[in-house]
Amino acid sequence: MISKPNESAATSAPSAPNQARAKAQGAAVRSRSALAPREHHFRGSLGRYATGVAIVTFDGMTKRHGITVNSFTSVSMDPPLVLVSIARSTKAHDELAGRPFAVNILGAEQRTLAMHFAGRPGPDPLWVEGEVAPRLSNVLAYFECRPWAAYPGGDHTLYLGEVAHFNYRSGDALAFANSTFTTIPQGQRGMEDVL
Ligand SMILES: Cc1cc2nc3c(=O)[nH]c(=O)nc-3n(C[C@H](O)[C@H](O)[C@H](O)COP(=O)(O)O)c2cc1C
Repeated sequence: MISKPNESAATSAPSAPNQARAKAQGAAVRSRSALAPREHHFRGSLGRYATGVAIVTFDGMTKRHGITVNSFTSVSMDPPLVLVSIARSTKAHDELAGRPFAVNILGAEQRTLAMHFAGRPGPDPLWVEGEVAPRLSNVLAYFECRPWAAYPGGDHTLYLGEVAHFNYRSGDALAFANSTFTTIPQGQRGMEDVL
C-alpha cells in the first residue's frame, strides 16, 4: 500500500444558504466530511513506516505487467514464501491471480523505474526472461515466484508466492518513507555475515 502526502481537509465555513442545506443533509454530510481526514491521517501514519521499493512483474493473459509496490513482505523460510498486497483497483490485480510473478527489489538509482510502473511512464525498461516469470534487469535483488495463495484483504488482495529463484547484487537500496524516496546505503557487512 502506498501512503500519499498528509493533505489537510478543506474546512471553509459554509455561507448562510449553504448552512441551511448542510443542516438539511444532516448526518450523511457530517459522516462524509469526518471520514476523509481520518483516511488522510491513516495514510500519513502508515507512511511513517519506512519500506523498500519493489516492482512485481508477470505475464498476464495478453500483455506483460509491472506494478510498483512497497507492501512486499517475507513470510516463510520453509517453504520460502513472500507476499505482496495489490489494490483491487489496479489493472494488475485480476491478472495476477494464479500466475507466476517476480518481485524486483530496487536499487537507490532506480527511482525512475519505480515511477514508470506507478503510472508515470519513463524510458522502456530492460527485461530478463526469468525461469518462471519475467523480471527486470540489474535490480538490487529478485525473487521469482510460483503462485501459492491469495487472501482477500479489504480493498487489496494479499498474493503469496513460493520463491523458486532469487539473487542479489551489491549496491545502495531504494527506500520509501513519509511519501518520498530515499537511499539506504549498503552496509559494510551483509546480514548473512552478521548471523
Ligand atoms: C512507492 C510506491 C509504492 C506503492 N505500493 C503499492 C502497493 O503496495 N500495492 C498497490 O496495489 N499499489 C501500490 N502502489 C501504487 C501502484 O504502483 C500504482 O497504482 C500503479 O499505477 C498501478 O498500476 P496498474 O493499474 O497498471 O496495475 C505504489 C506506488 C508507489 C509509487
